[in-house]
Amino acid sequence: MNNLSPDPAPQGTILTGDALQILNAVGNKSCSLLITSPPYNIGKIYEREKKRDINSYVDWVSPIFKLAIEKIADDGHLCLQVGAHLRNSEVFPLDYYFYKMLFDHGMKLRNRIIWRFNFGLNAKKRFSGRYETLLWFSKSENYKFNLDPVRIPQIYPGKRHSSKKPGKAGQPSGNPLGKNPSDFWEFSANEHFNTEPVWDIPNVKANHPEKTQHPCQFPVELAERCVLALTDPGDIILDPFAGVGTSVVAALKHDRNGIGIEIDEGYAQVGRERITLLRNGELNLRPIGKPVRLPRATEAVSTAPIEWKQLLTE
Ligand SMILES: C[S@@+](CC[C@H](N)C(=O)[O-])C[C@H]1O[C@@H](n2cnc3c(N)ncnc32)[C@H](O)[C@@H]1O
Repeated sequence: MNNLSPDPAPQGTILTGDALQILNAVGNKSCSLLITSPPYNIGKIYEREKKRDINSYVDWVSPIFKLAIEKIADDGHLCLQVGAHLRNSEVFPLDYYFYKMLFDHGMKLRNRIIWRFNFGLNAKKRFSGRYETLLWFSKSENYKFNLDPVRIPQIYPGKRHSSKKPGKAGQPSGNPLGKNPSDFWEFSANEHFNTEPVWDIPNVKANHPEKTQHPCQFPVELAERCVLALTDPGDIILDPFAGVGTSVVAALKHDRNGIGIEIDEGYAQVGRERITLLRNGELNLRPIGKPVRLPRATEAVSTAPIEWKQLLTE
């Protein structure tokens, strides 16, 4: 009889409390990936304290990240998803401030990824914001990057090397597993590829299948791509601003361990319920890589309202 035992089931935990305190309970250098979206300081319901100006926001968040970085393994990563802080319609791009802060802590930027989505507030005195960024840092030069699990289909799979390419002339030039998804996350799902060649993970708004009571979830798919590319099964993934546990769900979905820290017990509890639903195969998830559905030309929403036609001809 061999004494091999199966790998233990991955653990998913959401701890309640202030990240600045609770992070002390996480082992130093124990996590392969820290993925998070901190509060943007834009007056959301969970930003209970008075809105901070940008400098006091940075002063507040900086010690949390300093401590959080200690939890990342030497060959680990930090993925930070942020938008902008707004004050009197003035835009403060948070990735600008975070880049400086994390660079000063020795983190090395590998990609600044644009996450584009189609919905959000309609601005009146500036162009409406329709993208946020994801900064991916490694802690050292020695880091893992698993491209194959996140490759996407080639745009031109039939492309071949030119007849002048020594040794390769006429051979297929692409990788049969797909292409690198790039830092402007694209997809090439068949039906929409020609019209909308953008990997358009919708943000989690009203009719998104993952929507909970949290006003600012990120989609599981966004975290999944980082989890798959930057970690291996059994690794630990940490989110110190866990909200309703999206990063932990993405970790567990791919046999990694997830630790979330969330100050609001209500959100933490929703996160724990999502973990249970995932384990039971009952969590509503948008399938990874599924294209955004565009309305067909025949649908009512694709046609300009009759009232507009009248207005425009008056
Ligand atoms: C942008 S949301 C994160 C949402 C998350 N990515 C998700 O998909 O659910 C930021 C979260 O940080 C939490 N938060 C704010 N201050 C915190 C602190 N000091 N420690 C831990 N969590 C905090 C907020 O309650 C909020 O849920």
